Amino acid sequence: MSLAGRSLISIDDLSTTNIEDIFIRARHLRGLDHVGELRDIRLKTLRDKVLACLFYEPSTRTSSSFIAAMARLGGTVIPITQGVQYSSVSKGETLEDTIQTLGQYADGIVLRHPEEGAAKRAAAVSPVPIINAGDGAGEHPTQALLDLFTIVDLKAPVKGKTIALVGDLLYGRTIHSLVKLLRTRGVKLLLVSPRSLRLPENLRETLPDAEEMDSVEEALPRVDVLYMTRIQKERFPTVADYEQVKDTCILTRTMMEHAKSDMIIMHPLPRVNEIDRTLDNDPRSKWFQQVRNGMHVRMGILSLMLEASDGVAKSYEDRRAWD
Ligand code: NCD
Repeated sequence: MSLAGRSLISIDDLSTTNIEDIFIRARHLRGLDHVGELRDIRLKTLRDKVLACLFYEPSTRTSSSFIAAMARLGGTVIPITQGVQYSSVSKGETLEDTIQTLGQYADGIVLRHPEEGAAKRAAAVSPVPIINAGDGAGEHPTQALLDLFTIVDLKAPVKGKTIALVGDLLYGRTIHSLVKLLRTRGVKLLLVSPRSLRLPENLRETLPDAEEMDSVEEALPRVDVLYMTRIQKERFPTVADYEQVKDTCILTRTMMEHAKSDMIIMHPLPRVNEIDRTLDNDPRSKWFQQVRNGMHVRMGILSLMLEASDGVAKSYEDRRAWD
């Protein structure tokens, strides 16, 4: 089933073909970007479309990359990204009412919310597709797609590679989505975290061949991809619980001497203290490349989801561009 007119709540919503379609578009758009065309011209793909961005939690990359993606595809955004305190949410409006309202104006809604399951609740009442931009400790499918896109780009063939997922595997929603994308691709997964932040059981049991370990040092010499994450302070029951684990799983420059010369380090960002800043100059560090890819991948997703949803024919130029 194509992505047109459908919501993206979880990686489970995507077929292999959907993922390939997104990546084909993202690659094509990146090609235009490299020759400068994305800067000089606006595509017209989504010229009649309006996207609402509704963020109940802070965001830098996800919100701005969706806004930039929409702008570069010729569409328009209703931005509720500077804090829902300025919307009717502060008057006590429910998520359901807010979604049904925005659905009267927009052709799609990007939603970030602190509660797991919120995106699913929104999709149940929304007249237009919902894109889950993070629901509590649940999932963050568009981040995981840009992460896989980057991994395929830099480390293909992915099959047979060793990938370590490091940090907060319990609360990290990017991890939860990425695990679902990686588990069918024949990779060796190393799950590196303090014991209290291991992957949730329902995901862990789908990865019989993964290895769990406590220390980055142990995993490092083996890995082709090191995917670092932040300990998710805001999800802990108490500050004391967070304090206990906040300095575990840190990557230093000295440790990197034991890593393969052609491995890559990734991070969804924001980072706190888990990566030595001087590693920004290490050619193996790819986080800002992920950020750039994020815009192209989100352009791919938006164009597939919104372009044909009301049956409007694509322009000839745009159709040719995707072939
Ligand atoms: C992540 C998130 O919001 O889950 N950020 C992002 O979208 N790149 C990661 C995080 O907050 O640690």
